[in-house]
Amino acid sequence: MKATETLSTVRGQFPVTKRILYLDSAHQTPLATNVRAALEEFLSEGHEMAGPKPVWLRRAEETRESVAKFLNASPKEIAFTKNTSEGLNIAANAVPLKAGDNVVLIEGDHPNNAYAWLNLKRKGVEVRFAKLADTEIATAETFAPHIDDRTKVITLSHVTFHAGQVHDVAGIGKLCKERGIYLVVDAMQSVGVVPVDVKALGISVLAAGTHKGLLVPQGLGILYVQDGLDELQPAYLAMSSMARPPADYIALADDLEPRKDAGRFEFGNVNLPDLQALSAAIDLIQSVGVPEIQEHVLKLGDRLIQHLDEMGVALVGPRDRGERSHIYVLALPVDKWSDFFARNQVRVSPERGGIRISFGMFNTLEDIDRLAELIRKGLKEEKPLATAQVD
Ligand SMILES: Cc1ncc(COP(=O)(O)O)c(C=O)c1O
Repeated sequence: MKATETLSTVRGQFPVTKRILYLDSAHQTPLATNVRAALEEFLSEGHEMAGPKPVWLRRAEETRESVAKFLNASPKEIAFTKNTSEGLNIAANAVPLKAGDNVVLIEGDHPNNAYAWLNLKRKGVEVRFAKLADTEIATAETFAPHIDDRTKVITLSHVTFHAGQVHDVAGIGKLCKERGIYLVVDAMQSVGVVPVDVKALGISVLAAGTHKGLLVPQGLGILYVQDGLDELQPAYLAMSSMARPPADYIALADDLEPRKDAGRFEFGNVNLPDLQALSAAIDLIQSVGVPEIQEHVLKLGDRLIQHLDEMGVALVGPRDRGERSHIYVLALPVDKWSDFFARNQVRVSPERGGIRISFGMFNTLEDIDRLAELIRKGLKEEKPLATAQVD
Protein backbone atom coordinates (compact mmCIF):
# COMPACT_ATOMS: atom_id res chain seq x y z
CA MET A 1 0.00 0.00 0.00
CA LYS A 2 1.28 3.46 -0.88
CA ALA A 3 2.41 5.59 2.07
CA THR A 4 0.40 8.77 2.58
CA GLU A 5 2.14 10.23 5.62
CA THR A 6 3.00 13.83 6.39
CA LEU A 7 5.29 15.21 9.07
CA SER A 8 2.37 15.52 11.45
CA THR A 9 1.30 11.87 11.07
CA VAL A 10 4.55 10.01 10.41
CA ARG A 11 5.39 9.50 14.09
CA GLY A 12 2.66 6.85 14.13
CA GLN A 13 4.83 4.73 11.82
CA PHE A 14 7.51 4.51 14.55
CA PRO A 15 6.02 2.77 17.62
CA VAL A 16 9.39 2.97 19.42
CA THR A 17 8.57 6.64 20.08
CA LYS A 18 5.94 5.50 22.61
CA ARG A 19 8.54 3.63 24.66
CA ILE A 20 11.70 5.73 24.60
CA LEU A 21 12.97 9.13 23.61
CA TYR A 22 14.80 8.07 20.46
CA LEU A 23 17.46 10.61 19.49
CA ASP A 24 19.93 8.33 17.73
CA SER A 25 19.02 8.23 14.02
CA ALA A 26 22.65 8.91 13.08
CA HIS A 27 23.42 5.51 14.61
CA GLN A 28 20.46 3.66 13.14
CA THR A 29 16.84 4.49 12.54
CA PRO A 30 14.06 2.48 14.16
CA LEU A 31 12.01 0.24 11.88
CA ALA A 32 8.88 1.91 10.51
CA THR A 33 5.66 -0.07 10.41
CA ASN A 34 5.42 -0.02 6.60
CA VAL A 35 9.06 -1.12 6.25
CA ARG A 36 8.42 -3.97 8.65
CA ALA A 37 5.36 -4.94 6.57
CA ALA A 38 7.53 -5.10 3.42
CA LEU A 39 10.01 -7.38 5.22
CA GLU A 40 7.21 -9.53 6.57
CA GLU A 41 5.77 -9.89 3.08
CA PHE A 42 9.17 -11.15 1.90
CA LEU A 43 9.44 -13.55 4.84
CA SER A 44 5.94 -14.95 4.24
CA GLU A 45 6.68 -15.47 0.56
CA GLY A 46 9.91 -17.29 1.42
CA HIS A 47 8.26 -19.23 4.22
CA GLU A 48 5.10 -20.28 2.46
CA MET A 49 6.14 -20.43 -1.22
CA ALA A 50 9.92 -20.92 -1.11
CA GLY A 51 10.22 -17.48 -2.65
CA PRO A 52 9.15 -16.30 -6.07
CA LYS A 53 12.70 -15.20 -6.91
CA PRO A 54 11.76 -13.75 -10.34
CA VAL A 55 9.21 -11.56 -8.56
CA TRP A 56 11.81 -10.48 -5.98
CA LEU A 57 14.26 -9.69 -8.79
CA ARG A 58 11.67 -7.66 -10.64
CA ARG A 59 10.95 -5.73 -7.44
CA ALA A 60 14.69 -5.17 -6.99
CA GLU A 61 14.81 -3.52 -10.41
CA GLU A 62 11.84 -1.34 -9.45
CA THR A 63 13.75 -0.37 -6.30
CA ARG A 64 16.76 0.51 -8.45
CA GLU A 65 14.50 2.87 -10.38
CA SER A 66 13.22 4.54 -7.22
CA VAL A 67 16.75 4.88 -5.78
CA ALA A 68 17.85 6.48 -9.06
CA LYS A 69 14.94 8.92 -8.99
CA PHE A 70 15.65 9.69 -5.34
CA LEU A 71 19.23 10.75 -6.22
CA ASN A 72 18.38 12.35 -9.61
CA ALA A 73 20.33 9.60 -11.35
CA SER A 74 19.50 7.01 -13.98
CA PRO A 75 18.87 3.37 -12.96
CA LYS A 76 21.93 2.34 -14.98
CA GLU A 77 24.04 4.50 -12.63
CA ILE A 78 22.96 2.55 -9.52
CA ALA A 79 24.49 -0.64 -8.10
CA PHE A 80 23.53 -2.40 -4.87
CA THR A 81 26.23 -3.20 -2.33
CA LYS A 82 26.45 -4.37 1.27
CA ASN A 83 27.19 -1.04 2.98
CA THR A 84 29.02 2.29 2.66
CA SER A 85 32.46 0.73 3.19
CA GLU A 86 31.99 -1.69 0.33
CA GLY A 87 30.93 1.13 -1.99
CA LEU A 88 33.91 3.28 -1.00
CA ASN A 89 36.34 0.38 -1.41
CA ILE A 90 34.83 -0.38 -4.82
CA ALA A 91 35.47 3.26 -5.78
CA ALA A 92 39.01 3.27 -4.38
CA ASN A 93 39.90 0.21 -6.44
CA ALA A 94 38.04 1.28 -9.60
CA VAL A 95 39.66 4.67 -10.17
CA PRO A 96 42.75 4.30 -12.37
CA LEU A 97 45.50 5.34 -9.94
CA LYS A 98 49.24 5.02 -10.43
CA ALA A 99 52.09 5.27 -7.94
CA GLY A 100 52.70 8.96 -7.27
CA ASP A 101 49.05 9.96 -7.80
CA ASN A 102 47.31 11.41 -4.76
CA VAL A 103 43.92 11.41 -3.10
CA VAL A 104 42.72 14.12 -0.69
CA LEU A 105 40.51 13.44 2.35
CA ILE A 106 39.43 15.39 5.43
CA GLU A 107 41.39 14.49 8.55
CA GLY A 108 39.09 12.77 11.05
CA ASP A 109 36.41 11.90 8.48
CA HIS A 110 34.73 8.50 8.89
CA PRO A 111 37.43 5.80 9.18
CA ASN A 112 35.55 3.54 6.75
CA ASN A 113 36.30 6.06 4.04
CA ALA A 114 39.86 6.77 5.20
CA TYR A 115 40.86 3.08 5.25
CA ALA A 116 39.52 2.45 1.74
CA TRP A 117 42.00 5.01 0.39
CA LEU A 118 44.84 4.45 2.87
CA ASN A 119 44.92 0.86 1.62
CA LEU A 120 46.14 2.27 -1.72
CA LYS A 121 49.40 3.34 -0.09
CA ARG A 122 50.47 -0.23 -0.89
CA LYS A 123 50.33 0.77 -4.57
CA GLY A 124 52.34 3.95 -3.97
CA VAL A 125 49.31 6.25 -3.98
CA GLU A 126 49.74 9.25 -1.69
CA VAL A 127 46.90 10.01 0.73
CA ARG A 128 46.69 13.64 1.81
CA PHE A 129 44.59 14.96 4.68
CA ALA A 130 43.07 18.43 4.80
CA LYS A 131 42.52 19.69 8.35
CA LEU A 132 39.18 21.00 9.52
CA ALA A 133 37.79 22.06 12.90
CA ASP A 134 34.51 20.52 14.11
CA THR A 135 32.80 23.90 13.71
CA GLU A 136 33.96 24.33 10.10
CA ILE A 137 32.47 23.00 6.90
CA ALA A 138 34.63 21.82 4.01
CA THR A 139 34.52 23.96 0.88
CA ALA A 140 36.58 24.11 -2.32
CA GLU A 141 39.03 26.35 -0.41
CA THR A 142 39.61 23.58 2.13
CA PHE A 143 40.92 21.31 -0.62
CA ALA A 144 42.54 23.83 -3.00
CA PRO A 145 45.91 24.07 -1.13
CA HIS A 146 46.26 20.25 -1.14
CA ILE A 147 45.69 19.52 -4.82
CA ASP A 148 48.12 19.42 -7.71
CA ASP A 149 48.40 17.78 -11.14
CA ARG A 150 48.67 14.32 -9.57
CA THR A 151 45.44 14.70 -7.53
CA LYS A 152 42.95 12.21 -8.90
CA VAL A 153 40.32 12.00 -6.17
CA ILE A 154 38.74 14.20 -3.51
CA THR A 155 36.60 12.27 -1.08
CA LEU A 156 34.54 13.24 1.95
CA SER A 157 31.31 12.70 3.85
CA HIS A 158 28.37 14.87 2.82
CA VAL A 159 27.19 15.15 6.44
CA THR A 160 29.69 14.27 9.17
CA PHE A 161 28.82 11.67 11.80
CA HIS A 162 30.86 13.30 14.57
CA ALA A 163 29.90 16.99 14.59
CA GLY A 164 27.06 17.13 12.05
CA GLN A 165 28.61 19.53 9.52
CA VAL A 166 26.97 19.62 6.07
CA HIS A 167 29.92 20.11 3.76
CA ASP A 168 29.69 22.26 0.63
CA VAL A 169 29.72 19.32 -1.76
CA ALA A 170 28.40 21.42 -4.68
CA GLY A 171 31.33 23.86 -4.40
CA ILE A 172 33.81 21.00 -4.09
CA GLY A 173 32.13 19.30 -7.08
CA LYS A 174 32.71 22.45 -9.14
CA LEU A 175 36.39 22.47 -8.24
CA CYS A 176 36.67 18.77 -9.13
CA LYS A 177 35.05 19.34 -12.52
CA GLU A 178 37.41 22.25 -13.31
CA ARG A 179 40.47 20.23 -12.33
CA GLY A 180 39.43 16.83 -13.75
CA ILE A 181 39.31 15.20 -10.30
CA TYR A 182 36.87 12.45 -9.30
CA LEU A 183 34.59 13.41 -6.41
CA VAL A 184 33.69 10.41 -4.23
CA VAL A 185 31.09 11.11 -1.56
CA ASP A 186 30.08 9.14 1.53
CA ALA A 187 26.38 10.01 1.80
CA MET A 188 25.63 7.64 4.69
CA GLN A 189 24.46 10.41 7.00
CA SER A 190 22.82 12.66 4.42
CA VAL A 191 20.71 10.45 2.20
CA GLY A 192 17.07 10.47 3.28
CA VAL A 193 17.58 13.52 5.51
CA VAL A 194 18.89 16.24 3.20
CA PRO A 195 18.31 16.42 -0.56
CA VAL A 196 21.03 14.56 -2.48
CA ASP A 197 21.06 15.44 -6.19
CA VAL A 198 24.14 13.74 -7.59
CA LYS A 199 24.09 15.84 -10.77
CA ALA A 200 23.67 19.21 -9.03
CA LEU A 201 26.41 18.29 -6.56
CA GLY A 202 28.84 17.15 -9.29
CA ILE A 203 29.43 13.75 -7.69
CA SER A 204 31.35 11.06 -9.61
CA VAL A 205 30.72 8.20 -7.17
CA LEU A 206 28.41 8.14 -4.14
CA ALA A 207 28.30 5.38 -1.55
CA ALA A 208 25.85 4.95 1.30
CA GLY A 209 24.45 2.26 3.53
CA THR A 210 20.70 2.24 4.05
CA HIS A 211 20.28 1.75 7.81
CA LYS A 212 20.15 5.43 8.79
CA GLY A 213 18.17 8.00 6.78
CA LEU A 214 16.94 5.28 4.43
CA LEU A 215 15.26 3.37 7.29
CA VAL A 216 16.30 -0.18 6.34
CA PRO A 217 17.99 -2.81 8.55
CA GLN A 218 21.78 -3.22 8.12
CA GLY A 219 23.16 -5.13 5.15
CA LEU A 220 22.29 -3.09 2.07
CA GLY A 221 24.21 -0.26 0.42
CA ILE A 222 23.69 1.89 -2.65
CA LEU A 223 26.40 2.95 -5.05
CA TYR A 224 26.02 5.66 -7.68
CA VAL A 225 28.60 5.68 -10.48
CA GLN A 226 28.26 8.53 -12.94
CA ASP A 227 27.45 7.36 -16.45
CA GLY A 228 30.36 7.69 -18.86
CA LEU A 229 33.16 7.04 -16.34
CA ASP A 230 34.04 3.91 -18.32
CA GLU A 231 37.64 4.00 -17.14
CA LEU A 232 36.39 3.05 -13.65
CA GLN A 233 36.66 -0.71 -13.75
CA PRO A 234 35.66 -3.30 -11.14
CA ALA A 235 38.34 -5.03 -9.08
CA TYR A 236 36.06 -8.06 -8.71
CA LEU A 237 34.00 -9.91 -11.28
CA ALA A 238 30.95 -12.13 -10.97
CA MET A 239 28.39 -13.28 -13.49
CA SER A 240 26.14 -10.37 -12.54
CA SER A 241 28.86 -7.88 -13.47
CA MET A 242 29.53 -9.28 -16.96
CA ALA A 243 28.44 -7.73 -20.27
CA ARG A 244 27.59 -11.17 -21.66
CA PRO A 245 26.87 -13.58 -18.81
CA PRO A 246 27.03 -17.15 -20.20
CA ALA A 247 23.55 -18.67 -20.54
CA ASP A 248 24.96 -22.13 -19.74
CA TYR A 249 26.75 -20.85 -16.61
CA ILE A 250 30.15 -21.85 -17.98
CA ALA A 251 32.58 -18.94 -17.62
CA LEU A 252 34.36 -18.02 -20.84
CA ALA A 253 38.02 -17.20 -20.26
CA ASP A 254 38.25 -15.03 -23.37
CA ASP A 255 35.14 -12.94 -22.73
CA LEU A 256 35.81 -10.84 -19.66
CA GLU A 257 34.10 -7.62 -20.62
CA PRO A 258 32.16 -6.11 -17.71
CA ARG A 259 28.80 -4.41 -18.17
CA LYS A 260 28.82 -0.77 -19.22
CA ASP A 261 26.40 0.34 -16.51
CA ALA A 262 26.94 0.53 -12.73
CA GLY A 263 25.89 -3.13 -12.59
CA ARG A 264 29.56 -3.89 -13.35
CA PHE A 265 30.10 -3.17 -9.63
CA GLU A 266 27.40 -5.56 -8.42
CA PHE A 267 28.65 -8.98 -7.38
CA GLY A 268 26.38 -11.99 -7.10
CA ASN A 269 23.08 -12.12 -5.28
CA VAL A 270 22.01 -8.90 -3.61
CA ASN A 271 20.10 -8.33 -0.38
CA LEU A 272 16.58 -8.97 -1.69
CA PRO A 273 14.69 -8.63 1.62
CA ASP A 274 16.36 -5.30 2.36
CA LEU A 275 15.67 -4.12 -1.19
CA GLN A 276 12.00 -4.82 -0.65
CA ALA A 277 12.24 -2.86 2.61
CA LEU A 278 14.03 -0.03 0.84
CA SER A 279 11.24 0.34 -1.65
CA ALA A 280 8.74 0.82 1.21
CA ALA A 281 11.15 3.15 3.02
CA ILE A 282 11.63 5.41 -0.01
CA ASP A 283 7.88 5.47 -0.46
CA LEU A 284 7.47 6.62 3.16
CA ILE A 285 10.26 9.21 2.88
CA GLN A 286 8.87 10.58 -0.39
CA SER A 287 5.38 10.82 1.05
CA VAL A 288 6.76 13.14 3.74
CA GLY A 289 9.29 14.78 1.37
CA VAL A 290 13.06 15.14 1.82
CA PRO A 291 13.04 18.99 1.78
CA GLU A 292 10.32 18.83 4.46
CA ILE A 293 12.39 16.37 6.53
CA GLN A 294 15.44 18.63 6.19
CA GLU A 295 13.49 21.72 7.30
CA HIS A 296 11.95 19.74 10.16
CA VAL A 297 15.28 18.53 11.58
CA LEU A 298 16.64 22.07 11.26
CA LYS A 299 13.69 23.39 13.29
CA LEU A 300 14.38 20.74 15.92
CA GLY A 301 18.00 21.89 15.87
CA ASP A 302 16.96 25.54 16.29
CA ARG A 303 14.95 24.60 19.38
CA LEU A 304 17.77 22.47 20.76
CA ILE A 305 20.33 25.27 20.32
CA GLN A 306 17.97 27.71 22.05
CA HIS A 307 17.75 25.37 25.05
CA LEU A 308 21.51 24.74 25.07
CA ASP A 309 22.19 28.48 25.10
CA GLU A 310 19.80 28.97 28.00
CA MET A 311 21.47 26.14 29.92
CA GLY A 312 25.03 27.18 29.05
CA VAL A 313 25.82 23.85 27.34
CA ALA A 314 28.14 24.16 24.32
CA LEU A 315 27.53 22.66 20.89
CA VAL A 316 30.56 20.95 19.34
CA GLY A 317 29.59 21.44 15.68
CA PRO A 318 28.32 24.38 13.60
CA ARG A 319 25.37 26.55 14.68
CA ASP A 320 24.43 28.10 11.32
CA ARG A 321 21.41 26.60 9.62
CA GLY A 322 23.20 26.25 6.28
CA GLU A 323 25.96 24.18 7.89
CA ARG A 324 24.08 21.62 10.00
CA SER A 325 21.18 19.17 9.64
CA HIS A 326 20.11 16.45 12.10
CA ILE A 327 23.28 15.76 14.13
CA TYR A 328 24.17 17.76 17.25
CA VAL A 329 26.99 16.93 19.64
CA LEU A 330 26.60 18.40 23.11
CA ALA A 331 29.78 19.14 25.05
CA LEU A 332 28.77 16.99 28.02
CA PRO A 333 31.21 14.45 29.52
CA VAL A 334 30.39 11.05 28.04
CA ASP A 335 31.13 8.94 31.11
CA LYS A 336 28.54 10.74 33.24
CA TRP A 337 25.92 11.54 30.63
CA SER A 338 25.74 8.27 28.66
CA ASP A 339 24.62 6.54 31.81
CA PHE A 340 22.28 9.38 32.77
CA PHE A 341 20.45 9.26 29.41
CA ALA A 342 20.26 5.44 29.46
CA ARG A 343 18.70 5.54 32.96
CA ASN A 344 16.11 7.99 31.66
CA GLN A 345 15.15 5.96 28.55
CA VAL A 346 16.79 8.39 26.14
CA ARG A 347 18.72 6.80 23.27
CA VAL A 348 21.76 8.85 22.19
CA SER A 349 25.38 8.04 21.18
CA PRO A 350 28.72 8.88 22.75
CA GLU A 351 30.79 10.94 20.34
CA ARG A 352 34.25 12.52 20.11
CA GLY A 353 33.36 15.78 21.84
CA GLY A 354 30.46 14.64 24.04
CA ILE A 355 26.94 13.25 23.57
CA ARG A 356 25.49 12.98 20.06
CA ILE A 357 21.81 13.77 19.64
CA SER A 358 20.42 13.00 16.18
CA PHE A 359 16.94 13.44 14.77
CA GLY A 360 14.67 11.52 12.45
CA MET A 361 11.48 12.62 10.72
CA PHE A 362 9.47 11.21 13.66
CA ASN A 363 10.99 13.46 16.34
CA THR A 364 8.98 16.46 17.54
CA LEU A 365 9.58 19.79 19.26
CA GLU A 366 8.11 18.17 22.38
CA ASP A 367 10.92 15.59 22.23
CA ILE A 368 13.43 18.44 22.33
CA ASP A 369 11.69 20.11 25.25
CA ARG A 370 11.65 16.79 27.13
CA LEU A 371 15.33 16.34 26.43
CA ALA A 372 16.12 19.88 27.65
CA GLU A 373 14.11 19.32 30.82
CA LEU A 374 16.13 16.18 31.50
CA ILE A 375 19.44 17.90 30.82
CA ARG A 376 18.45 20.65 33.27
CA LYS A 377 17.70 17.98 35.86
CA GLY A 378 20.99 16.25 35.11
CA LEU A 379 22.95 19.46 35.32
CA LYS A 380 21.59 20.06 38.82
CA GLU A 381 22.47 16.50 39.82
CA GLU A 382 25.77 16.29 38.03
CA LYS A 383 27.31 19.67 38.77
CA PRO A 384 30.07 20.82 38.64
CA LEU A 385 31.20 18.47 35.80
CA ALA A 386 28.76 19.84 33.24
CA THR A 387 30.91 20.61 30.24
CA ALA A 388 33.50 18.53 28.46
CA GLN A 389 36.65 19.53 26.70
CA VAL A 390 35.80 19.94 23.01
CA ASP A 391 38.35 18.06 20.91
C1 LIG B 1 29.66 8.95 7.48
C2 LIG B 1 29.54 7.47 7.70
N1 LIG B 1 30.08 6.62 6.82
C3 LIG B 1 29.99 5.28 6.98
C4 LIG B 1 29.36 4.74 8.07
C5 LIG B 1 29.23 3.27 8.25
O1 LIG B 1 29.77 2.53 7.22
P1 LIG B 1 29.10 1.15 6.78
O2 LIG B 1 27.81 1.46 6.10
O3 LIG B 1 30.08 0.55 5.88
O4 LIG B 1 28.91 0.31 8.02
C6 LIG B 1 28.80 5.60 9.04
C7 LIG B 1 28.12 5.13 10.24
O5 LIG B 1 27.94 4.03 10.61
C8 LIG B 1 28.90 6.98 8.84
O6 LIG B 1 28.37 7.82 9.72
